[in-house]
Amino acid sequence: MSDSLPKPLSARYKESFAYETVKDRMPVILTKAIDACHKQIEPYHEKCGEKGAEDVKKVIGQMSKLRNELMTDKPFVELDDDLKDASEWNDCLNELKNSQDEKPSYFTSPWLFSECMMYRRISGILQNSDFMKSFDPYQDQKRVALDNAIPGLITMADHLKKISEERNLIQDTELLKCFQTFLKASLWSNRFDLSLTAGENKDHESHNPVETLQELESYLLADNSEAIFKHLCNVKQSGNKIRVDMVIDNAGFEFSSDIMLAEFLLESKIADSIQFHVKCIPWFVSDVTFEDFDYTLKTLSQTENKVLASYGKLWLKRLQDRTFLIAPKENSQFWTLSRPYSEMHKHDPKLYQRLESSALIIFKGDMNFRKLVSDLAWDSEIPFATSVLGFSPAPLCTLRTLKADVVVGLAPGKAEDAAKKDEDWMVSGKYAIILAHLDA
Ligand code: F6P
Ligand code: MG
Repeated sequence: MSDSLPKPLSARYKESFAYETVKDRMPVILTKAIDACHKQIEPYHEKCGEKGAEDVKKVIGQMSKLRNELMTDKPFVELDDDLKDASEWNDCLNELKNSQDEKPSYFTSPWLFSECMMYRRISGILQNSDFMKSFDPYQDQKRVALDNAIPGLITMADHLKKISEERNLIQDTELLKCFQTFLKASLWSNRFDLSLTAGENKDHESHNPVETLQELESYLLADNSEAIFKHLCNVKQSGNKIRVDMVIDNAGFEFSSDIMLAEFLLESKIADSIQFHVKCIPWFVSDVTFEDFDYTLKTLSQTENKVLASYGKLWLKRLQDRTFLIAPKENSQFWTLSRPYSEMHKHDPKLYQRLESSALIIFKGDMNFRKLVSDLAWDSEIPFATSVLGFSPAPLCTLRTLKADVVVGLAPGKAEDAAKKDEDWMVSGKYAIILAHLDA
């Protein structure tokens, strides 16, 4: 990277949210993961005997050691676990060693690396166990989040059904409004992920998500939604098949709102298929894994509410008729590296190629945004297209609520106005942006 670029966010800056996260929030998240393992001693004893219980205890010991390394800022050590991407991670670590004077550690390194490393270490510990290889320490929290989301999802499903029944009566101007409703519902569903709240599940999902959109409008600091709609209409007019890619973030209300958006795009014939990208390992507490993807669709197809259940069943069918696609695991490992997306072309050309045939890539959430802009301390008025540093496999957009102290693409004065109203505007998850870079 050139010297003229802004510096990476890092816990080395004591006033930063990165510092607060590494110092206070990450140890809490790790403690909760350890607690989740504790609860497994008995079940594994029953399932696998004494060896099972011993295995869980070994995992707990290793995670406690990891927490100690984090809290005492020990230098990072090379990964020696059996996960496929271990050597990729060690390459990143070596690059880091060559780029900074002191030994890389949680508090001295770029925040992106430190934070991702903690989640990757947890997965490595589980992978090296005998019995807990596929254990997800955040599974219970994600499942509770989905249960709590059901009332809000029923409202959205009713709204979606009404729109599709009236579809033939809807003029194009109204179609834009409907598009914005589902796009913005998907955006705002990113407000509270479980890593921001260290696993606490706030009751925001019980609100009527469609009605709340209007109230949230003043918190939307940049809104390229109309340009995104026009872009999709233009591709449609050219007669090409439209595949929209969604790089998914959190399980529960957020992922379900994303599927509602996907369904709207298909029903309104704006898109012909949707390709979802999810994580190979448990990630940032609430991110959707392959297992969560299946679980969500099955759960929604079995809810008591008929409308929501019929959508759930339709979505399972869509996986069969391939109007819903899920990108395969071998093309999903890059999402759980610490690399910014500007490095995808070099380090995962196959994923880059897969994305190239997309009409639009929708990146959900804060971490995807941070990776799009390389987690650098950009000036808030720098154009989004500049901040992606050449990452442009296809037209793309970001739907993100602000949960880290970096933002780009704002009109002059917007950042100052928000800061006057709320000193935590960059990290509270209350404010949001919809930014697009459409000239790939
Ligand atoms: O601080 C909140 C945080 O842990 C950030 O570090 C990270 O960017 C974000 O949560 C994850 O949020 P999201 O689920 O929106 O990507
Ligand atoms: Mg997340």
